[in-house]
Amino acid sequence: MKHLIDPTDLSKAETDEIVALAEDIIAHREKYQDLCAHRKLATLFYEPSTRTRLSFTSAMMELGGNVLGFSDARNSSVSKGETVQDTVRVVGCFADVIAMRHYIEGAPLAASLVSPVPIINAGDGSHSHPTQTLTDLLTIKRELGSIDGITIGFCGDLRFGRTVHSLIKALARYEDIKVVLIAPDELRLPDYIKQDVCEKMGVSYREVRTIEEVMPELDVLYMTRVQKERFLDEDEFDRVKDSFVLDSARMALAKEHMAVLHPLPRVNEILQEVDADPRAAYFRQVENGKFVRMALISKLLEWKDDPSHGMPERPLAQSAGRCSNPKCICNCENVEPRFRRTDEGMVRCAYCDAKISAN
Ligand code: NCD
Repeated sequence: MKHLIDPTDLSKAETDEIVALAEDIIAHREKYQDLCAHRKLATLFYEPSTRTRLSFTSAMMELGGNVLGFSDARNSSVSKGETVQDTVRVVGCFADVIAMRHYIEGAPLAASLVSPVPIINAGDGSHSHPTQTLTDLLTIKRELGSIDGITIGFCGDLRFGRTVHSLIKALARYEDIKVVLIAPDELRLPDYIKQDVCEKMGVSYREVRTIEEVMPELDVLYMTRVQKERFLDEDEFDRVKDSFVLDSARMALAKEHMAVLHPLPRVNEILQEVDADPRAAYFRQVENGKFVRMALISKLLEWKDDPSHGMPERPLAQSAGRCSNPKCICNCENVEPRFRRTDEGMVRCAYCDAKISAN
């Protein structure tokens, strides 16, 4: 069964198939209006969300399906101590596909290991957000005509910004991608993305200090919010919260056909004066999110019983050590530890990608 936990759970061909289907849905909405009639999507959101949850809901409604679920885990059996794995075993009896957002990293992977129906990761902690990635890929394709060959600047919170991590993983499989990282020291991209993704896949990347110095080179500027809720230290957040601001003066330095993306919500990192610029693509990006989720839901239902659309292996590993991330599901609930070995021989947690420390 195909789940979507990490962007690389989809092959490049499957990713392109979903993006192409989303484009066909945009062109021929009426063709798809009953595709998921009598099917149900459950949205299990353990963390606040506006656009992602409503985007899933409206996607399923546009396919003629129904939606159930919760948007506040305090109203579910979680408040009685139910584990994620038990919850999906139960909800899998009521729904054909489940979209889960969780503040605990790796929770959707743990869910997928026992779920009778496909699980879609709608964001897990600061780890991963693969449906935003599909949204971003579709947006880049529609704004620029192609994904190959782009230079993309990621600006803001590259440390906790899960949308950034997932998008870099997905872009690494396209041709000739150049990545520029624009972040203060405290918010730099995690090493595992630099090493296991950029260096391994041959994606050229460099780190710079200001938006201005790279603006003229960029085809895409991907702005992000500083993720206040992920900071353990409030002083550290205060030091970095106003690091980068995109305004009209900076936009004047950019290419005529550059696209500004932002997963939203924005706080203060893009001034409202930029919204009227035709290169500001972030509200179009929101709408693309609905279409790509329609495509994803229908493909996961189509592929459910097709053995040629399986999942990569995440083998059980005994005695490899312990995951060092206190926010990982394997340190929060009783799930079997799983690890993966990188090409360089390093061992990482399969749930959250953190380093494994010796027992
Ligand atoms: C993002 C998220 O939840 O990670 N939002 C979204 O899904 N559109 C980005 C964010 O919260 O900053």
